[in-house]
Amino acid sequence: MSPMHKALVLHSKDAGKFVIEDRPTPTPGPGQLLIKIYATALNPVDLYVQSSGYIVDAYGFPAVPGCDGAGVVEALGEGVKGWAQGDRVLMQGHWVADRGTLQQYAISDAVRTTKIPDDMSFEEASTIPLALATSAVGLYHTISESGLDGPMGGIELTPPWEGGTGKYAGQPILILGGSSSVGQLAIQLAKLSGFSPIITTASKHNEAYCKAAGATHVIDYKDVPYADLPAAVTKITTEPFKVVYDAVTVDDSQTAGWTILAPGGDMVVTLPPKVGQRERSEANDGKRVAFTYGSIHLPMNAEFGARMHKALPGLLKDGAIKPNRVEVCGSDLSGAFAGLERLAGGVSGVKLVVRPHGI
Ligand SMILES: NC(=O)c1ccc[n+]([C@@H]2O[C@H](COP(=O)([O-])OP(=O)(O)OC[C@H]3O[C@@H](n4cnc5c(N)ncnc54)[C@H](OP(=O)(O)O)[C@@H]3O)[C@@H](O)[C@H]2O)c1
Repeated sequence: MSPMHKALVLHSKDAGKFVIEDRPTPTPGPGQLLIKIYATALNPVDLYVQSSGYIVDAYGFPAVPGCDGAGVVEALGEGVKGWAQGDRVLMQGHWVADRGTLQQYAISDAVRTTKIPDDMSFEEASTIPLALATSAVGLYHTISESGLDGPMGGIELTPPWEGGTGKYAGQPILILGGSSSVGQLAIQLAKLSGFSPIITTASKHNEAYCKAAGATHVIDYKDVPYADLPAAVTKITTEPFKVVYDAVTVDDSQTAGWTILAPGGDMVVTLPPKVGQRERSEANDGKRVAFTYGSIHLPMNAEFGARMHKALPGLLKDGAIKPNRVEVCGSDLSGAFAGLERLAGGVSGVKLVVRPHGI
């Protein structure tokens, strides 16, 4: 293995441009794996960090982007047991230079890495880590005071991997943005948790995609504006919505979700909330909102992430957790340039994936 590899690098925020450079290939430390990354999924946060310095300001430049990766184990750090060179895996990246996944080799903690089934492609596997963690933290984790944007976390349902499979049977759930990457995984988790009906919003052409993930009803938000959503869901069920997951978190989706949420209910948002409060209060009918944060690398999520990754091989094998629809950008790492530009314009029901090794 060469001591250097290709990486997408960001040297500064604001006008900072991504460039492809050679950087030293790291040696895995105790408890770590070095992963040869064959597929990297692109995420909106890659663009947000570039413009704002969010996350990276805390860790320093130069930074390597990429939150989602899949490939094979190339080397094992000291004390790592149960892994072998060549194991096919998925991992979540982080904006610390050795851990970003938009490069050919990246470091991953063994306890937060998952072996993938033989019949799952690297491209498919790379779509799962961040979207799954963002959905799972929001639904199942506690809220921590130490989030990057103040208190962040979840609404403390029981995870399926800790006895919560089917626990919420008979309760409806509303998931706004079911064709987004995060929405797809939130639907799958809601199904595992037993929620029914699972009502989501998406464009008409993504109805089958949402139903394949487990949605029972798909409302086209272009036909039914969010202001009319409360009336539309009442036609499907009159049961109270104790849980709403807003994977879009634009102004009108948040407002509709908060309106539909029953007294005492919990709503998860994926961007800073403009409705509700973290604490339940009489003024808010006992409702609360939780701002999920999908990085399992922050101390507040690390243990939760390890437990989730421990359960994940079984969930992938059963088909309970499925990848997003994939579209490959370009033939190698340079595909990230056009891919990120396309992501900035918005995608519909698809995850854009880059192949850092060109194979
Ligand atoms: N807090 C965190 O840790 C975290 C982590 C990951 C993502 N996020 C945030 O979560 C959001 C989703 O991320 P993502 O990667 O899942 O996005 P994505 O897949 O790129 O989102 C694209 C999808 O959004 C859907 N959409 C857009 N506007 C909508 C609306 N008004 N109502 C319903 N669906 C709508 C589109 O649906 P149609 O094409 O069907 O119309 C499209 O399929 C982003 O804002 C992202 O920044 C936060």
